[in-house]
Amino acid sequence: MDSILIKGGNSLNGNVRITGAKNSALKLMAAALLSDEAVYLSNMPDLADTRFLSHLLRHLGAEVHSNTETGCLQIMAANLGEPEAPYDLVRKMRATFNVLGPLLARKGRARVSLPGGCAIGARPVDLHLQALEALGAQIKLDQGYAIAKAPDGLTGANINFPFVSVGATEHAMLAAVLARGETVLSNAAKEPEITDLANMLNAMGARIAGAGQDTITIAGVDSLHGIDHEVVSDRIETGTYAMAAAACPDSEVTISNCQPEHLEALWAAMQRSGIEVTLGPNEVNIKRGTESLKPVDIETAAWPGFATDLQAQFMALMTLADGASIIRETIFENRFMHAPELSRLGADITVHGREAVVRGVKELTGAPVMATDLRASVSLVIAGLAASGSTSISRVYHLDRGFQNLEANLTALGANIRRVKN
Ligand code: EPZ
Repeated sequence: MDSILIKGGNSLNGNVRITGAKNSALKLMAAALLSDEAVYLSNMPDLADTRFLSHLLRHLGAEVHSNTETGCLQIMAANLGEPEAPYDLVRKMRATFNVLGPLLARKGRARVSLPGGCAIGARPVDLHLQALEALGAQIKLDQGYAIAKAPDGLTGANINFPFVSVGATEHAMLAAVLARGETVLSNAAKEPEITDLANMLNAMGARIAGAGQDTITIAGVDSLHGIDHEVVSDRIETGTYAMAAAACPDSEVTISNCQPEHLEALWAAMQRSGIEVTLGPNEVNIKRGTESLKPVDIETAAWPGFATDLQAQFMALMTLADGASIIRETIFENRFMHAPELSRLGADITVHGREAVVRGVKELTGAPVMATDLRASVSLVIAGLAASGSTSISRVYHLDRGFQNLEANLTALGANIRRVKN
């Protein structure tokens, strides 16, 4: 299994270009199933997760062509086959479950494997299923599969989510665009990826109003046409490079092709920590001097709050702050698996349930560590860049799920990082 070897202590300088957002691209790919015309996605990230979903779409009968040089993906779902997503093509990645709604809308029935839990928590799909049922789907769970039918089509409904769920909001939108009549989603998620999905669907002929706000209204239409759509830039990749630069004294990095307005909570926390953050229209400049970081408390929250997908990276940063910070994780019940790994590098972290107390240390020292999930892995990369000596990170396939060209990008900024093939 591959590992990543980092010799820490270098400053980072230069420019890094951000790709399209994984967590948007996956839903846009599922949305392509809603049309029998071609959907062209540009600014596509080339990741293990997007390749995995491409396999599933092909299995469902779509033609999928990817050009990784140009970052374009073409999906043509004119002739869908049997609407069945088997366990092997769903289990590795939860976002695959989002094909259920589009298949129901297009074919009137679908059999999709349940995704199961994952390292960061149980992550049920009850809200997804409740939303589809509210739209008129009849669903039964049998031997790990959701078996759904809507022989007379889906019908608009009022759906009030008991708490904010990105995936359930997206799934409800994907199903409701072709439903008869009006759907109102209350307490909807407001993440930029929701707005990106709504923008693409509207450009395909859907009638969605209010995306990015608490209430989304969808007037169902009969069909959707093909489209060219540019995937929104990845705010989590943007924030990750920003924190990598912030972790290494004497660094200055410009992050381009991004939308800094999607990360206000992160910029506020970094500025409180003493990092210079300068925002431009499509870029952000991060400057870290040689002075130590100030401790900053954060609490994760649905957008526009502090993103849970940036919590591990921020914890890595705070391990070197001059004092103690408190990090509260409110979205997932088990998202501190990076804490014991960071401690192997010398960090002082105590976890009590959903709260971690991070007492800053003078320095981290390299050690062998293990990646446990995508964002946890990259927090170890950040800590390894800031640590003295060598850090080797095993199980790096997690990183390949969400970060394109990570080692090459960091090397170009001056880091000493390489992949070791085993
Ligand atoms: C999306 O997951 C992202 N994944 C996650 O990124 C991200 O952390 C999360 O949103 C929150 O921003 C993708 O977009 C592919 P939720 P999602 O539904 O949609 C509970 C990464 O590293 N819940 O907003 O699954 C759930 O367990 C990943 O890229 C239910 O109880 O997140 C969680 O506690 C990790 N029942 C909370 O809601 C449901 O039916 C919020 O989850 C659905 C969710």
